This record gives sequence, C-alpha cells and structure tokens, in this order.
Amino acid sequence: MCGIIGYIGKKHNVTDVLITGLKALEYRGYDSVGIALWNEDMFKLIKSAGKISHLEDKIRKEGNMTSQMGIGHTRWATHGEPNDTNSHPHRVGNVTLVHNGIIENYQELKEELIKKGYHFASDTDTEVIASLLDDIKKNKENYLEILQELTTRLRGSYALGIVFDQDKNHLYALRKDSPLILGIGDKENFIASDIPAIIPYTKQYILLEAGEIARLSEDGIDLFDTSLKPISKKIQQVNWTMEQAEKGGYSHFMLKEIMEEERVLKDTILPFVKDKETLLSKMPDLKKYDQVHIVACGSAMHAGLVGKYLIETYANIPVTVEVASEYRYKKNFYTDHTLVILVSQSGETADTIAALRLAKESKVDTLAIVNVYGSTIARESDQVLYIYAGPEIAVATTKAYTLQVAMLSLVALTMAINHKQMKEEEITMLLEAFQNLPEILGGLLEKQESYFEIAKMLDGSEDVFFLGRGVDYALAMEGSLKLKEISYIHSEAYQAGELKHGTISLIEKNTPVIALVTDEKLAEKTISNIKEVKARGAKVILVTLESLDRDYDFCDQKIVLPVVPPFVQPILVMPPLQLLSFEVARRRGCDIDKPRNLAKSVTVE
Ligand code: G6P
Repeated sequence: MCGIIGYIGKKHNVTDVLITGLKALEYRGYDSVGIALWNEDMFKLIKSAGKISHLEDKIRKEGNMTSQMGIGHTRWATHGEPNDTNSHPHRVGNVTLVHNGIIENYQELKEELIKKGYHFASDTDTEVIASLLDDIKKNKENYLEILQELTTRLRGSYALGIVFDQDKNHLYALRKDSPLILGIGDKENFIASDIPAIIPYTKQYILLEAGEIARLSEDGIDLFDTSLKPISKKIQQVNWTMEQAEKGGYSHFMLKEIMEEERVLKDTILPFVKDKETLLSKMPDLKKYDQVHIVACGSAMHAGLVGKYLIETYANIPVTVEVASEYRYKKNFYTDHTLVILVSQSGETADTIAALRLAKESKVDTLAIVNVYGSTIARESDQVLYIYAGPEIAVATTKAYTLQVAMLSLVALTMAINHKQMKEEEITMLLEAFQNLPEILGGLLEKQESYFEIAKMLDGSEDVFFLGRGVDYALAMEGSLKLKEISYIHSEAYQAGELKHGTISLIEKNTPVIALVTDEKLAEKTISNIKEVKARGAKVILVTLESLDRDYDFCDQKIVLPVVPPFVQPILVMPPLQLLSFEVARRRGCDIDKPRNLAKSVTVE
C-alpha cells in the first residue's frame, strides 16, 4: 500500500505539488503522512501521524520554504504503528527516501547493519533501506551503481523515491512489485504511485518496470536497465480528466461513483454487445477451456462468485472461486484446458498478482479483468479485458464491482456460445438485454431517496444479516461487505437455508435482516426461510423483483427491481444496496470514502 509522490522543477511550488499528490493518493493509505523538501543544504523532513491536514498545519508552522525538489508519502502501516517516527520519508546520513511495499529480508539486513554500528529510530523496513543505501554509499560514488547494488540486496516489494543531499539536481526512482509512474512535464518531472497524483500537472507518463532505475532532473528523465544501460520507453497518455478524478459536486466519492454506474456500464459493455459477431471478435476465444478458476480478493472475489454462477449455469463449465491469499498457497488442479481468471480493480493487489504468477509458472492460460490500464496484472496476464470504470477513489468499491460482474457476465455468455450451450434466439435476446441494461440501471439509481428512506431502519443497529440462495447468496456477501466496511455495523451474509443450523440464535427482536429474492426459481424456498427469521422478531428488508412483488406480511420494507432476463439480473441488485449502505454510514457519521483501517489498493501480502 502507501502512496508516493515526488517533484523536481521550478514551475510549481513543491509543497503544493506534494500535498495535492498526497491527497490524490490518500486512497492507498492514510494513517500518517510526510514530506522531505530540499532546504538550503539538506533535505528537511516534516512528518505527522494522522491525516494530511495535520501535516499541512506543521508545514504552515515552518513558514515559507522555497525548494525545487521534494518527495512525499502517505502511509498504510505494515511495520510499526502509525506515528510520526514510523511515517515516511526516512533519512539516514545523507539519504532520504519514501517506500511503498514490504522488504522481506529487512530483519536480516537490520542485524547486519546494527553490527556495523547503525541505530534504528523507527520500526520500519524502510529505515533499513535508507541505512543500507548509506552503507553502500561508503564504497561507491556513482549514484546509479549505488542503487544497482541496492536492488541486489533487497528481497520483497518496493517502489522507492530517493534523494541524496550531495546530488540536489536529481531525484531517483526504482521499483519491484509495487507500482510507480514517472510524470513528464515541461521543465518539471514527477514520480507517483498512481496517475491521479499527477493529472493537475501533466497527462504524459512512463510506466517504470521492475529493475529499472529512473533519474529525474528538471530537464528530463534518464532511464536505465538492471545493468545500467540507458533505455528509452514509450510515453503514455492519461485519458482521464481532472474532473473525472474529483467529486463532481457530490458530497462523497462513493456517492459519485455509484451514480456513475449507468455511464460506465455503457462504456464497458456496449462495445461488445452489438451482435454475436461483435461479441466473439472482441472477446478471447474460450472454446478450449473446460475448467475455470476465478481468483481475486474482497469485492472482486464476490464478483467472481456471480461469474461462477453464470458460467456454470449457462456454459455448463465447472468453476472454482478462491480468495487469492488462499489460492497462492494451496494445491491447485490444472489441466491443459484450465483458464485462470484474475479479477482486480487496481491490477496491483499483491495476492492476486502472486496467484497470477503461480498460474503462469504452471503454464496455465490467464485472463485478467482489470480497471487500471497498464497495471501489473493487466501487463502480466496472457489476455486482458478492461472495465472502464475510470478512477475509483472511494476505498469501498462500487462501480468497479458492478462492472466486474458485467464483464464476467460477458465472459459467461461467450463461453456459453463457444461451447454451443445456447440457442441463437437466446443469444440475440441476451445481447439486447445487455444493450438496455445501462438505462434500466440509471432508472434504479434515480430512486436513491427511497433507499435512503429505508436506511433509517438500520439506525441504532449493531448487527445485520443478509440472506440469499444461489446467486442471491453471492450478492448478499457483497451487500454485507459493503455495509460493514463503511458503516462499521457488524454484518454477516448467510445462505438462506443455512441460518437455522446455528446462527438463527442471534436473531432477536428488531435484528435487521436484508433478504435477497431475485431468482424466481428459488423464491418460494427463500421466502420460507425469511418467515423463520420474522417469527423470531427480525425486521425484514426484502430485495425482490417486480414479478415477485406481493403484499407479504413478513417484510417491513422493500426494494423492488425491474425484471430483466435472469442472466443479467445480478448486475442490477447491488447498486441499490450500495446506496443503502452509503446512507446508513452517512447517518452514523462515518468517514465513508476512507473507512478506518482499510486501503483501496492492497499491495502487500
Ligand atoms: C481492497 C479493497 C476492496 C477490494 C480489494 C481487491 O481490500 O478495499 O474494495 O475489493 O482490495 O482489490 P482489487 O483492486 O484487486 O480489485
């Protein structure tokens, strides 16, 4: 996790660039923050536990500091608690640096450095890197060679922004397994963990690859490979606008991102669904596969569960869904006909990257569903399907989840066609259903006030249960995660038929139960289960379809969804539940866009 920003140039005020960048990167971690600025004859560090506003107060107290170079960091603690000392930048001797990632052999290196007389003020692995650099510097003068040696000594993941007091005209950057981009300006250059940090200043950037070293000056960027041979790399163009990366008039990024779902669904699926030929020409050929593993983390894994239901039901192909942190350490069964699908918004989730590499080592075909262009998972997978969510800033994913479900639905449809499991009329009918879906979703979002009204039912609740059967259970899991991660209300998702095997003992008078009944075939069964909880005092919010809507005596509130073909129905279920969770959290006064302890992009194991 963690976010890095660095600037060299005279066109802008360095502190402003760093603070703007850090605010844009806060989604990567926000427990402490710090900057280092070149000030007279050395780099000066200003660091603070807590939010960026605390750092800004400290900077103000320092008075005006003119500088032409600086690095900044927003932290998500891995080694040591979030306090001023552990926050970055770290400085040892004349070396100052910021780090995103985890150094696996830091303990071993630390012991070696302690023997050489180094003392450590912080608990971090980052201070070990700074000390190691200082030590290497004693025997080498060329900064590139110093950094080259550093890369041979470190094990683990890192993106580093490094400055040396004696080389005040250069900012150095290198990476392995943690993201880093280089922003190219006119007489100014940048390093950053992600694009939103540089958009106010430039739209041109370079993706730094593992092992490469970048040396930035005001006039340009020099790049070197692992053997320090100069290299040149393709300049990429950002296709987001600043407005897309900002709140656009909404109170919260999360609300803005939910309300964008109609547009981003259009952007993502319409190019595929004009007709069958278009779909098959734009999708990978999936004929070969008779077994699928979907691997992902968090909400992306929940999207995978919907994908499993669709692929198994309609393409008749067995699918396993696993969280990446488990998959990477378990025995997996592959054949020549296995496809591993990696689902990741950021494309940088460490466990999902590890699962991808594991599959590749086993010579299994991989397909990624990713939002961030050029991210590690996108680059390393054999094939990529992009969702076009644009930047998702709120930590809790909403629009990217919806698009992951939509893209997995297109994968399922392609597999069903490839495996001759679907009649032509059904294919045509489904393609039309996909075409109409964004507008129907837009209509659902317009009813936000009605979901906000229902949210009042959860005032004062500390435990909530979500129930569902079949695909409704997969959706219930995401509904439950969304609610608990942003509102801090304890919530569990249960298979509707399973609750009575124990957990029903937790249902008492007025326990809210959100019951999903959107699969007509299973409706009666689930309704019987809802009656069981109602009989024990639960307050029931029913999420169902217009076709199943009756005057039920067991439900206290209802969210009624328009009927679309069952194949695409799951795509419509989550947006109202996302709005419901948003409002519950807002009523509780939670920090919705940045829930405690979470980070958007989990780039550590
Ligand atoms: C974090 C986020 C989740 C997200 C998960 C996977 O835990 O808080 O919202 O679902 O990572 O992220 P990815 O970028 O791989 O989709």
